[in-house]
Amino acid sequence: MTQRAIIVGASSGIGREVALLLLAEGWHLGIAARREEPLLALQREAPERVHVKTIDVTQPDADIRLLSLIEDVGGMDLYFHASGIGRQNRTLEPAIELSTVETNALGFTRMVGAAYRYFSEQGRGHLAAITSIAGTKGLGPAPAYSATKALQANYLQALEQQARQRGLPIDFTDIRPGFVDTALLNDHFPYPMMMRPEAVARDIVKSIHRRRHVRIIDIRYRILTALWRMVPGWVWRRMKL
Ligand SMILES: NC(=O)c1ccc[n+]([C@@H]2O[C@H](COP(=O)([O-])OP(=O)(O)OC[C@H]3O[C@@H](n4cnc5c(N)ncnc54)[C@H](OP(=O)(O)O)[C@@H]3O)[C@@H](O)[C@H]2O)c1
Repeated sequence: MTQRAIIVGASSGIGREVALLLLAEGWHLGIAARREEPLLALQREAPERVHVKTIDVTQPDADIRLLSLIEDVGGMDLYFHASGIGRQNRTLEPAIELSTVETNALGFTRMVGAAYRYFSEQGRGHLAAITSIAGTKGLGPAPAYSATKALQANYLQALEQQARQRGLPIDFTDIRPGFVDTALLNDHFPYPMMMRPEAVARDIVKSIHRRRHVRIIDIRYRILTALWRMVPGWVWRRMKL
């Protein structure tokens, strides 16, 4: 049976690696992002199985463009949301904070909502998204990033509960990686415990097949976030990150 996935945020980084793995498994793909050239390069890997659409998730027509891409592909079994931006912002530059909210909160809600409504009507589907371990605590160096990642994780949790209450057989997978060596972290800051996007993508695809609800990648970050949860507020407020 043909399996069809839409990947928004497939032009680089983790989204691109996940697209390559799904292609190797024989999936038909609809791939989207703002930059067309890298999407067309990815399409050349399997032109007969890949459809391309430029989508800017911050634009009001992004959900309409998503539906048109689904039509081009001939349906959607999996929606994978990899779009996101993030910068450290220790001086709280308003442009960084606001664009992060526009992409990671408004854009995310717009796209994930459209996919959820599509799956509700279809009566099945799998909705997966990359949030982050950054959403598990308020992180001083990147306030909008960590806050929007918390929004994403809570939104997925809320949708999963709603779908269950409505008797909708939709699966949800919240992917929470630690630091990954992609353009997102290209700011010359020495990030510890950096992972390769190829390895993270392999874990993601496995987690999707296993219908995991939440997947923190990798084991080191599962331990770290478990420890974070035990840190009392008065200690967290004093921590230098
Ligand atoms: N790298 C990490 O350490 C890390 C850790 C945890 C979670 N994550 C999350 O993983 C996801 C993927 O990031 P990445 O690390 O793979 O970085 P990346 O290489 O910069 O990929 C980001 C993707 O998002 C797309 N995107 C950004 N703004 C968009 C917009 N307005 N509309 C549509 N697409 C947009 C980009 O495509 P265009 O620029 O072509 O639009 C690109 O395809 C993000 O949600 C990020 O927060 C990353």
